[in-house]
Amino acid sequence: MIFCCPVCRGTLEKRDKSLYCPNGHCYDISKYGYVNLLMSNQSSAKRHGDDRLMVEARRDFLDGGYYSPIRDALLELALPALKSGSRLLDAGCGEGWYTSAVYEKAKASGIDIEVACSDISKDALRYAAKRLPEAEHAVSSSAHLPVADGGCDMLLNFFSPLETAEFYRVLSEDGYLIRAVVLPRHLWGLKAAIYDNPYENGEPETELEGFALDRRIDVRSRIIVEGEDIKRLFSMTPYYYKTSAADHAKLEALERVETELEVCLLSYRKTQLAKE
Ligand SMILES: C[S@@+](CC[C@H](N)C(=O)[O-])C[C@H]1O[C@@H](n2cnc3c(N)ncnc32)[C@H](O)[C@@H]1O
Ligand SMILES: [Zn+2]
Repeated sequence: MIFCCPVCRGTLEKRDKSLYCPNGHCYDISKYGYVNLLMSNQSSAKRHGDDRLMVEARRDFLDGGYYSPIRDALLELALPALKSGSRLLDAGCGEGWYTSAVYEKAKASGIDIEVACSDISKDALRYAAKRLPEAEHAVSSSAHLPVADGGCDMLLNFFSPLETAEFYRVLSEDGYLIRAVVLPRHLWGLKAAIYDNPYENGEPETELEGFALDRRIDVRSRIIVEGEDIKRLFSMTPYYYKTSAADHAKLEALERVETELEVCLLSYRKTQLAKE
């Protein structure tokens, strides 16, 4: 098991519908298949991740296949780095669309990997557990992962909070970190259809302490989105809750939008940290 006890970092063992550590800490597996490993002092944190509406919108949109070029770029980076027994952790996994693609592709190639999905949103994990029941699923914060030091060999961090020091801690020596981040003109066509003065995203920061960038793939494509999928796509973005009623009305009226898809995938290897 990739997840460990969040209190004492002891190994977890599954018995019936609970996970137990050697020090007597016990966590029940919910009927949806995830376990809550968020410590009580963390659950009071303001941000609880994506709510059900956002999660369902993203699940339905991703299932429409619009983001397949991003998934394919991930497979190109991840597959050569995996072998049977590799431990893959998705930090901020959402509904597990990308993780399950890696798992399925590895399996089809004869590679049996262990997978753990972590997200701070219960709603997200509920769908991730349904999509990929073969994986472990835990409600947890990327800032305090319930994973032992060196407890995973590859970590995915797709459009979710980056916690460089924590990712460094949980990755094994020479482990892989694969991130996906948006480029300046990602979804420009969608933003231009809604806002009078849309602005570009900033350039991503690619240098990470303790990691060496190994490969980068920029995915640039155009997608045509129609009907309900337009709202689904918009509700996946950080702008959704910051948009005025008037701009929301413009969104509701849109029937078809053509927009850029511009993201970059960054694959890093863990290196030695410079001595102080
Ligand atoms: C934009 S979504 C991306 C989900 C998924 N990786 C994908 O690309 O489809 C961001 C995810 O990060 C999660 N999240 C936000 N803050 C988090 C935190 N501190 N720790 C773990 N997950 C977090 C949200 O609940 C949400 O599922
Ligand atoms: Zn414990």
